[in-house]
Amino acid sequence: MALRRPTPVILPMLVGLAVLFSTFAHAQGTTAPAALVGDPERGKTVYQRMGYCVNCHGWAGDGMAGSNPMAHATGANLRKTALDAEGLAQVIKCGLPGTPMPYHDTAAYRDDRCYGMVMADFEPGGVPVRGKTFRDKEVPHLVAYIQHYMIGLGKPTLEECALYYGAAADKACAYLRSE
Ligand code: HEC
Repeated sequence: MALRRPTPVILPMLVGLAVLFSTFAHAQGTTAPAALVGDPERGKTVYQRMGYCVNCHGWAGDGMAGSNPMAHATGANLRKTALDAEGLAQVIKCGLPGTPMPYHDTAAYRDDRCYGMVMADFEPGGVPVRGKTFRDKEVPHLVAYIQHYMIGLGKPTLEECALYYGAAADKACAYLRSE
C-alpha cells in the first residue's frame, strides 16, 4: 500500500513535464508539421505581414476589403471554408492553380509535392501564381489563426475588427459602425 501512495503526486508531475517538454519542442520548431500545432497570434502576423493574405481575403477573411485601400477583395470567404487543417495547409503551400490564389512554398512545382505537378505540366497562362513565400514552419500558425479567428464566425463584428486593428481600429473599423 505504501508504494501506491506517491502515484497521485507523480502522475501530475509527469504530465507537467510532458507539457513542458512539448512547449519546449514547439518553441524549438521541432514539432512535427503533420500535427499542425500552431499559435494563432503568430499566425496573425503571417496573415497580415508575411503572406499578405489580408490583401485578398480581407482582415476578417471574408473576402471583403473592409476599409483597406490595398485590398483587392477577390479572395474566397475563409470564414465559410469547408477545409480542415490539412486542406488549409495544402492550399496555403500549393495555392489553387488556375485561380489567383498563390502558392507560398518556395519549392512548390519544382518537385511534385503539390498535387503531383511541376511547372512544366501547366499550359502557358495557367501556371500557378507565386505568392509571398515564408517558411514552412509558419504554416501551422496561419492555419491556427484561420481556424481560431475566422472559420464559422459568421458576419464580422465591430469587436473582431477592434481586436484585429488594435490602436488603428477607430479609423479602420468606422465602416462597421455605420452598418
Ligand atoms: C492575390 C490574391 C490572394 C492572396 C494574396 C491570397 N489568396 Fe487565398 N485565395 C484567393 C482566391 C481568389 C481564392 C479562391 C480561388 C478559387 O477557388 O477560385 C483563394 C482561396 C483560398 C483558400 C481556399 C478556400 C476554400 O474554401 O476553398 C484558402 C484556404 C486561402 N485562399 C488562404 C489564403 C491564405 C492563408 C493566404 C496568405 C498566405 C492567401 N490565401 C493569400 C486569393 C488570394
